[in-house]
Amino acid sequence: MSSSDKDHVVIFDTTLRDGEQSPGATMSFDEKMEIASTLDEMGVDIIEAGFPIASEGDFEAVSEIAKNAKNAVIAGLARAIPGDIARAGEAVKHAKRPRIHTFVSTSPIHLEHQMRKNEDEVLEIIAATVTQARNLTDDVEWSAMDATRTSHEYLAKCVDMAIKSGATTINLPDTVGYNVAEEYYEMFRYVRENVPDSDKVRFSTHCHNDLGLAVANSLAGLEAGCRQIECTINGLGERAGNAALEEIVMAIATRGDKLPYYTNVDSTQLMKVSRMVATAAGFPVQFNKAIVGQNAFAHESGIHQDGMLKSADTFEIMTPESVGVKETSLVMGKHSGRHAFKEKLKDLGYDMSDNEFQDAFVRFKELADKKKHVYDEDIEALVDDQRAHADERIQMVSLTVIAGTGGPQKATMTLDIDGEQVTKEATGDGPVDATFNAIKAMVPHEAKLTLYNVQAVTAGTDAQAHVSVKMEEDGKTVTGRGADTDTMVASTKAYVSALNKLMVRRTRTAKAEIFDAAG
Ligand code: KIV
Ligand code: ZN
Repeated sequence: MSSSDKDHVVIFDTTLRDGEQSPGATMSFDEKMEIASTLDEMGVDIIEAGFPIASEGDFEAVSEIAKNAKNAVIAGLARAIPGDIARAGEAVKHAKRPRIHTFVSTSPIHLEHQMRKNEDEVLEIIAATVTQARNLTDDVEWSAMDATRTSHEYLAKCVDMAIKSGATTINLPDTVGYNVAEEYYEMFRYVRENVPDSDKVRFSTHCHNDLGLAVANSLAGLEAGCRQIECTINGLGERAGNAALEEIVMAIATRGDKLPYYTNVDSTQLMKVSRMVATAAGFPVQFNKAIVGQNAFAHESGIHQDGMLKSADTFEIMTPESVGVKETSLVMGKHSGRHAFKEKLKDLGYDMSDNEFQDAFVRFKELADKKKHVYDEDIEALVDDQRAHADERIQMVSLTVIAGTGGPQKATMTLDIDGEQVTKEATGDGPVDATFNAIKAMVPHEAKLTLYNVQAVTAGTDAQAHVSVKMEEDGKTVTGRGADTDTMVASTKAYVSALNKLMVRRTRTAKAEIFDAAG
């Protein structure tokens, strides 16, 4: 290893696998594609794209990400089962740099209750499955599930077996988030010192955050010689989540004096990808979340504001720009003209046809009539909303809602369905329920609503609401989004958009079945 390789911390992102495993965080195929391509572009070294054996959807997503990745290694997860490993190998095979990541439990508690195997049997499983994986690809990661509750002696035997069988990366997870930093360090020190060929492989951390120690423990792993950290955007993941990628990257970038390493991640993309993942998973980021929370760079108290005005480093250890926070700029109001709006769109990175621009300008004027200050975020929400609903077969035409204490709440709605206008009225338990019941009356369906999430785009009572809904049908999930200053209108757009996606999916599935039947 050259000295720069020695200091390089490989960032392994598992947002699309461990992150997506958190209850309620299921992402659609398109969302996974968008997140993966952003991670790839921003310099994440390895993307764990999913668990191919888990479902057809997971397999398709991993294969597509593997085909499209430009730089990153694409990993697919597999249990220590031959069928899993074969499926993972199949899913990642088109990647420029494929990896199979296979794992087995090693702790006595898992061996007794989960695996019902003894230590020698598990050693044999490691030998067989790592060998199988290595025959499919040169890059094989082996993980000892529940490593931190495994005796060091047995763990070292397992690692030795995995290396002898061809593993190139050894990951020792704190699966249950139980360790403190010193113990996690000690486990790696012991294993690295007691396994003969440990210098031939890369060691990796994988920390869960049940005690809020995932990032601290991952950094302790670095001190013990690990050079790969497994983490997720916003710390998404099983139970309390995983180590947060943005915190790891910024700790290394900011504390070079204590952490003399580097990552390849472009930190100015952190805010963007954080929002993307929050929206896709439907898990809002807590306001005071380190690095990407709304308040992470806000200074409210008089003393802090005074200090900041004199010199930013009085209370700021990193700049907002370094993580991609842009100063919220006041765009314009209802007197702003076409030219200024066009310039603003260009600034925000939108490239539009004339027709698209005309539509966006009309919508901007409508918004500026309702809302005193129009911010960058408002324009982004407006254009994204316009693009999301442009070609949909079902479109909302009008909506009137009667809400309040009297009940039952009532919605009267007109939808345009394939060019024909249909109007229905429905009541419900609250205005959202009434609105969704009106949609169901016009577009009957059995899909289950699994998420309804509302977030304000900016501050203020006239802010636009950004609504996300997720719906599940036949084990597959679609997401719909809508933005409007009226929360009920935004909710309708989101629900209708999800229904449109379901219709597209049904057509696609029906076509695939016809092709399959034709052989
Ligand atoms: O937490 C864990 O042990 C895991 C393994 C599958 C790597 O996620
Ligand atoms: Zn995990």
